[in-house]
Amino acid sequence: MASLFNCHASNPDAASIKIKFTQLFINGQFVDSVSGGRFETIDPRTGEVIGSIAEATKADVDVAVKAARQAFDFGPWPRFPGSERGRILMEWADLIDQHAEELAALDAIDAGKLYEWCKIEIPSVANMLRYYAGAADKIHGEVLKMSREFHAYTLLEPVGVVGHIIPWNFPSTMFFSKVSPSLAAGCTMVVKPAEQTPLSALFYAHLAKLAGIPDGVLNVVPGFGPIAGAAITSHMDIDKVSFTGSTQVGREVMQAAARSNLKQVSLELGGKSPVIIFDDADVDKAVELALVGILFNKGEICAAGSRVFVQEGIYDEFEKKLVEKAKAWVVGDPFDPKVQQGPQVDKKQFEKILSYIEHGKREGATLLTGGKAVGNQGYYLEPTVFTNVKEDMLIAQDEIFGPVMALMKFKTIEEVIKSANNTKYGLAAGIVTKDIDIANTVSRSIRAGIIWINCYLAFGNDVPFGGYKMSGFGKDCGMEAIHKYLQVKSVVTPIYNSPWL
Ligand code: NAI
Ligand code: MG
Repeated sequence: MASLFNCHASNPDAASIKIKFTQLFINGQFVDSVSGGRFETIDPRTGEVIGSIAEATKADVDVAVKAARQAFDFGPWPRFPGSERGRILMEWADLIDQHAEELAALDAIDAGKLYEWCKIEIPSVANMLRYYAGAADKIHGEVLKMSREFHAYTLLEPVGVVGHIIPWNFPSTMFFSKVSPSLAAGCTMVVKPAEQTPLSALFYAHLAKLAGIPDGVLNVVPGFGPIAGAAITSHMDIDKVSFTGSTQVGREVMQAAARSNLKQVSLELGGKSPVIIFDDADVDKAVELALVGILFNKGEICAAGSRVFVQEGIYDEFEKKLVEKAKAWVVGDPFDPKVQQGPQVDKKQFEKILSYIEHGKREGATLLTGGKAVGNQGYYLEPTVFTNVKEDMLIAQDEIFGPVMALMKFKTIEEVIKSANNTKYGLAAGIVTKDIDIANTVSRSIRAGIIWINCYLAFGNDVPFGGYKMSGFGKDCGMEAIHKYLQVKSVVTPIYNSPWL
């Protein structure tokens, strides 16, 4: 994956990026917030303001939910044949492709993501939309032969009005991994992007209208978690909430759902994923995999391989090569095609990571490389590797969400399975070995939602992704995700003149 970071392309003039959409998108219109309030979105390269965005509060969420409810109960979207929903989603995907560079620049400047990477990510979200567009006319139930003199069939019906709460680390991928399957299923929705990264979501709303998504079906309400987010999770007229973010807020989402109308909940939360490298691995390839596994998107990815376990036979060589590569990793302006790592998303995240690094040192782990800020403006951090990490240390247990690796040595397969599972999380795991027996044993023994064998972060629109344990429940991607937004209705009827009960 690292080679992607080095492709040479024209460097856009970041200062010339125009912010076109700064209002809430409700019922097909861009509107100011009811209170007139606004908030600033920040460029993490400098800490300077990029633009001021209308801030949704509870009153705006109420208006957006009314529009979504009207569109669900009386509008065409849930009633269209699936093929018509699919056709419109395909149009939307084409419009996204046509604006890929502009959208890539918005995510790069808003979140500090590599521009070169965003130019790959945006066409890939258009393809995610196409995946679900193609599924929209293949949603059907089953005919059931009952053991009594009845027969039954099931209908798969859209769950209703959905609230989507999106994080800032992948503003486009997270938006489409929620919005595409729920639209294909026939739901209507209110989407709250993260307060750090509202820009691309508003652009997508504009393109959705051009593609022909009817008014009220897709509403986008940027705002803060405890205000706009909480208004969604506790709303009495939202049928389902789909959330990606921290485990702590995931818990609050579930509580708010329980306290209000018992809306359905799906949660994609944090991780502390192990990458397990066995003695038979090609050390150079394993180093590359482990490094990209933690440094990709500056470690701001829920599936980051933040705990790396290396078997004792290759440990010393692995450590030496890893440190060399980490020192050579290029940190800098995400619009520069030579750069491999941009700034952390904001000051809060930057300071949180630095405080974990201090904690690691105090706990007695050995800092092999990194550990400091880079430059004197913006939120840049050095790629950081700790060794001599004990399993109960905070840096081995908490999700740091930054470029910080905990490196550990192991002897036996039994020991490493136990260590890898010694976490409250269960999102992902990586295994590097040529031995099929080891690969099979370990992949079945790790309690996590996705296992990558001899690869890492190999996501696909068609592969379900989501957690075990406190990493949450409910899958994004694949056909699993469409079922999150459908409910099963059973219809029963007598076959001939059989009794009524
Ligand atoms: P967060 O969980 O606070 O934010 C994620 C989303 O939830 C944002 O849209 C936010 O506005 C919203 N939110 C916050 N509080 C809410 C509430 N009370 N009710 C409803 N919605 C609410 O995460 P934050 O503070 O941005 O990052 C903290 C940590 O969370 C990170 O360091 C990382 O460990 C984890 N995280 C995990 C992500 C993942 O992909 N699973 C993504 C983002 C953060
Ligand atoms: Mg920002």
